[in-house]
Amino acid sequence: MSRLQAEHLYKVFGRRPEEAIQRLEGGADRDELRAEGTTAAVVDASFTVEPGQIFVVMGLSGSGKSTLLRMLNGLLAPTSGRVLFDGQDLTALTGGELRAVRSRRISMVFQHFALFPHRSVRENAAYGLEVQGVPRAERDHRAAEALALAGLAGWEDSWPDELSGGMQQRVGLARALATDADLLLMDESFSALDPLIRRDMQDQLLQLQKTLKKTIVFITHDLNEAMRLGDRIAVMRDGRIVQLGSAEDILVTPADDYVASFTQDVDRSRVLTAGAIMADPETVLGEGPERRSAEDVLAAAPATVRADTPIIELFTPCSTGEAPVAVVDGTGALTGVVPRARLLAVLGEPMTPSSAPETGPPAAAAPAPVDRTPAPAPAEAEAKAVARA
Ligand SMILES: Nc1ncnc2c1ncn2[C@@H]1O[C@H](COP(=O)(O)OP(=O)(O)O)[C@@H](O)[C@H]1O
Ligand SMILES: [Mg+2]
Repeated sequence: MSRLQAEHLYKVFGRRPEEAIQRLEGGADRDELRAEGTTAAVVDASFTVEPGQIFVVMGLSGSGKSTLLRMLNGLLAPTSGRVLFDGQDLTALTGGELRAVRSRRISMVFQHFALFPHRSVRENAAYGLEVQGVPRAERDHRAAEALALAGLAGWEDSWPDELSGGMQQRVGLARALATDADLLLMDESFSALDPLIRRDMQDQLLQLQKTLKKTIVFITHDLNEAMRLGDRIAVMRDGRIVQLGSAEDILVTPADDYVASFTQDVDRSRVLTAGAIMADPETVLGEGPERRSAEDVLAAAPATVRADTPIIELFTPCSTGEAPVAVVDGTGALTGVVPRARLLAVLGEPMTPSSAPETGPPAAAAPAPVDRTPAPAPAEAEAKAVARA
């Protein structure tokens, strides 16, 4: 069962929200409604988050991320749609039941983490446990454990104003970890930090996640952060989820120009993997008496890598010879090849629906195509075009 399931969530602020939803369903957009004083903050959002996943919601300011997050823990009631947490419909719970779920099973970490200035770091980290009524000795112990996990061992008796911004944010993380909640909701939690400290926090979160295996919904407006952290990424625009997929999906086949515009500053060589860019071995085997076997390709390859190898590791081998790098599975069988031209091509501009060459069937009046194989998917078509070049 999914840990979290959002089903056709809508949140409309302002007048006659139900009527606004009917109009949105009929194709009206956000601007039309805004002109009448109604804000469609979240429009028809559906997704699932599996236990142990980091699900990132990415989008510009105002795109509806925080509103979406607040519906996931019941702080905001959806105007329409449902949220299921471990199969339980949050929208059907009473206020008391909802508060119990929120205090025990869900933790939130905000961007500007408000620490209590007159409480020690330990007491700040223990706050969620105090709310739950956990006895003093146990909460001190659990707070200290959580602080150690967040990299703050030894700072328990300090005061918040003795900590840097990054360390204060770690206290926020420790407070969320101390409660043992299965679901962490993080709203731009690292956005206010300096770049190097932010990177440290991302590393720390990934490190923690290896052992704690929480389910995390992480909000950011930064695609690099989304790609470092996210197992899956939802890109929001004007209240709608416009793309849902892995970092590679978003880089290789952005759904539209809006999504593509985010990908321009991303270091593609560290996000893309050999598996995402490889071409079918068939493209290099040749025809007739000249036809080579998979063994020939493996023998000639300057390197043999697995599908999850980041492509930055392919440049050196690709520079040493003409033969493509071989991609193999766990049994050593050839599953793909990365020719040098392919490697160079993927570092260029992303392919978007508006910039991709035509891969579909030609217009009715055009002569029959020479190649009668079915139109391949865009990524595959791109790979083949490069392999032929
Ligand atoms: N309580 C509210 N009342 C009216 N409008 C709101 C409220 N909360 C958010 N909005 C509007 O909903 C839209 C989405 O806001 P928000 O979810 O905060 O976006 P993000 O977190 O992506 O910046 C914005 O236009 C915002 O002004
Ligand atoms: Mg926000």
